[in-house]
Amino acid sequence: MRRIAVLTSGGDAPGMNAAIRGVVRCANNQDMEVYGIERGYDGLIKGDIRRMDSRSVSDIIQRGGTILKTARCPEFNTPEGIRKGYEVLRAYGIEGLIVIGGDGSFRGMRDLCTNHKMACVGIPGTIDNDLAYTDFTLGFDTAVNTVLDAINKIRDTMTSHDRACIIEVMGRHCGDIAVYSGLAGGAESIVVPEIPFDIDAICDKMRRNIIKGKASDIIVLAEGVCDCNTLKNMIQEKVDITIRTVKLGYIQRGGTPSMADRVLAARCADRAVNLLKNDIGGRVVGVREGAVIDDDITEALDMERKVNDELYRIASLLSL
Ligand code: ADP
Ligand code: F6P
Repeated sequence: MRRIAVLTSGGDAPGMNAAIRGVVRCANNQDMEVYGIERGYDGLIKGDIRRMDSRSVSDIIQRGGTILKTARCPEFNTPEGIRKGYEVLRAYGIEGLIVIGGDGSFRGMRDLCTNHKMACVGIPGTIDNDLAYTDFTLGFDTAVNTVLDAINKIRDTMTSHDRACIIEVMGRHCGDIAVYSGLAGGAESIVVPEIPFDIDAICDKMRRNIIKGKASDIIVLAEGVCDCNTLKNMIQEKVDITIRTVKLGYIQRGGTPSMADRVLAARCADRAVNLLKNDIGGRVVGVREGAVIDDDITEALDMERKVNDELYRIASLLSL
């Protein structure tokens, strides 16, 4: 394969730029031309495409966001939209496409592969860490570190005032950001969509914490469960403690990528380009138990995602 394209799609994630850089430079090193598609599938349908060389990705490894921009494109959810995208790729003589995005973006990519026999490879880019086939997605590590920084700061002021705080974090339907940041931040409780929550147990624990002399109580709540103010109202009826709420929001999607995300980006880019170089498509790249892997896209999307029970259990154990 001599000519490939790359796009970023869905919610942006720190490390997407490092992955774009990796794709362009790995491909250029193997005498492959790279085209960058702007604004995900929207730009693909509209033909917003430009040639990228090694210099075009200088000085981006440390930047959050995505220089190719990203978008959500309802038209690509239709066979007609996918066909338009395919025709644009054909018109540019593009033989392979690398999609950096989450599960929605991968579903679009799968349809492009199966309906039109376009060789596509996915690199997992989402802060949510909600793809079952890979242990980690680009942006997750950075997002968790951003949440940890917030927990540390919020803990200082809660402790000074003997208060509790519910910190709502992103993740869509996935509780990984909450579990990892809750464990690493020493949260008293972690509430995630994958594990049914018992409001009485949370309230009992808060009451016991007050008796034990704990000066603050941090509850990390995944957005997929409910709004932080809903949970606050449920607790406030039962426990005599001042509760504040913080919705961390988009701060979790920005910022300079961590070492882990940059290294993951480079490794995934290298594998993705090599697959296309060998004319292999229909794959998604990731990491399992430290090793870079690639899986069939349909099988990867069918895998059932599970919350990390071990981390959740340890977090509960350590928060006594
Ligand atoms: P993410 O990739 O981060 O999960 P989204 O779920 O918003 O983000 O999906 C990004 C884009 O991928 C959508 O706007 C749409 O263009 C495309 N997409 C999502 N789901 C599908 C689907 N089932 N079929 C085709 N394209 C899809
Ligand atoms: O998928 C990434 C993510 O940040 C989710 O955690 C969150 O639910 C969603 O995107 C927010 O999407 P939007 O950018 O459309 O507000």
